[in-house]
Amino acid sequence: HARLPCDLVVMGGTGDLAMRKLLPALYYLQRDGNLHPQSRILALARARHDSSSYRRLVQRHVSQHVAPGDFDQASWQAFAERIDYLSLDVSQRVEFPRLANALGQADGRVRVFYLATLPELFAATAEHLGAAGLIDAQTRIVLEKPLGSSGQSAERINQRIAAVCDESQVFRIDHYLGKEAVQNLLALRFGNALFEPLWRNAHIEHVQISVLETVGVENRGAYYDQAGAMRDMLQNHLLQLLCLVAMEAPVHFGAEAVRNEKLKILEALRPITGMDVQDQTVRGQYADGERASERLPAYYFEKSVDHDSNTETFVALRAEIDNWRWSGVPFYLRTGKALAHRKSEIVIQFKPVPHRLFASDGRAPAHNRLVIGLQPQEDISLSLMAKAPGRGMALQEVELDLNLAEAFRRRRWDAYERLLLDVIEGDATLFMRRDEIAAAWRWVDPIIRGWQDCYRSPKRYAAGSWGPEAADSLLERYGHDWLDRR
Ligand code: BG6
Repeated sequence: HARLPCDLVVMGGTGDLAMRKLLPALYYLQRDGNLHPQSRILALARARHDSSSYRRLVQRHVSQHVAPGDFDQASWQAFAERIDYLSLDVSQRVEFPRLANALGQADGRVRVFYLATLPELFAATAEHLGAAGLIDAQTRIVLEKPLGSSGQSAERINQRIAAVCDESQVFRIDHYLGKEAVQNLLALRFGNALFEPLWRNAHIEHVQISVLETVGVENRGAYYDQAGAMRDMLQNHLLQLLCLVAMEAPVHFGAEAVRNEKLKILEALRPITGMDVQDQTVRGQYADGERASERLPAYYFEKSVDHDSNTETFVALRAEIDNWRWSGVPFYLRTGKALAHRKSEIVIQFKPVPHRLFASDGRAPAHNRLVIGLQPQEDISLSLMAKAPGRGMALQEVELDLNLAEAFRRRRWDAYERLLLDVIEGDATLFMRRDEIAAAWRWVDPIIRGWQDCYRSPKRYAAGSWGPEAADSLLERYGHDWLDRR
């Protein structure tokens, strides 16, 4: 289990994230013996609960959100005993002495404040914690994404937080970094000698990174309509994936070394500004549609969404990395909601063979392709050319498939389990550093500004489809296509 006892304070304790992700993850940590016996969980929110009514609420959600069969009474009882609830408005400084009182002396315990609240509250909450004397060297603050809504607002939050604690105490979550399959990307690249010699512009034609969701905005309309797919997904999750695909090998697997390498990639992204915004990016918004004969509503009919909303629920773009390794290799990024399939994957498309030896069948030589599936399945497949049986030399594409769930028949940890344990242990390797956030916004801001300046609305796409056609034509212009409809 974790080496140190910890007081974990979840601010936003009745929210969606706490109920769907954080508490189920903590339940698993408890069940599998990964929490220190003296660790406690204190949930805060404005709602009127006492600890026992709050525990009942948690029980309902946790039992729903863990895998069937993983919820057992004995683990639940032991878990519930660690949980307390305090009704408190984190926007009010005067309420914090009550929190200090509830926590008592730290006595060498680690204190984690998890801000699972609206980002508008981050800076003030950290200041209130500081003023109440709740921040010492053993304190860590966890911030959810998106941090701010632009480079400027993110910097303001970061500055105010830096005034009350050290950068090493700030853990900015991007839960994609905690996903087993995403870490496997690092294992694949840096644990095998096979790929590295080919992992560069001499051999790679282009890269595709797709995070496609079937869900719409669900109950999060109020947040999402302000954010949109660019701020909600691309600025963080997709750019982090891009960094892991593109970065140089760090000298060791430690927080500073890994983050230095990611930062270099973010800084090498070629800016997309002015006219290029219309040319290199596509934004879309779902209209009504259907999936498996179920009618799906248009985005602007969703709860808490403005009827005239111009918020994008889909983005596709063509990025380039201006460095020695990647010069000339397009990275196509795409993410959206209410699409035909839930699928996240990374496709590495290699260049064709330099000379066609077996051209007799008249077809263009196929490309080798490495597909790293992140969701819903974790699998890796490599497409190779092989001789089709029979007379003559007709080549055919075949796949070498690795299914990771079958290769390792073990429960996959949820991203939040690992990340929460890393916070308690003080390991920031899988968290975003302040300069990474700033660099990501520096690249994203001009694109959002370009959209705002052009007075064009997002391209409509039918809910349940593959997104707007413009996303296909973006690639077609460069002789490529999205490689997921085979
Ligand atoms: C969150 C976004 O960060 O990631 C959501 O705010 C999105 O809009 C979610 O649905 C996707 O995460 P996952 O782990 O389901 O791919």
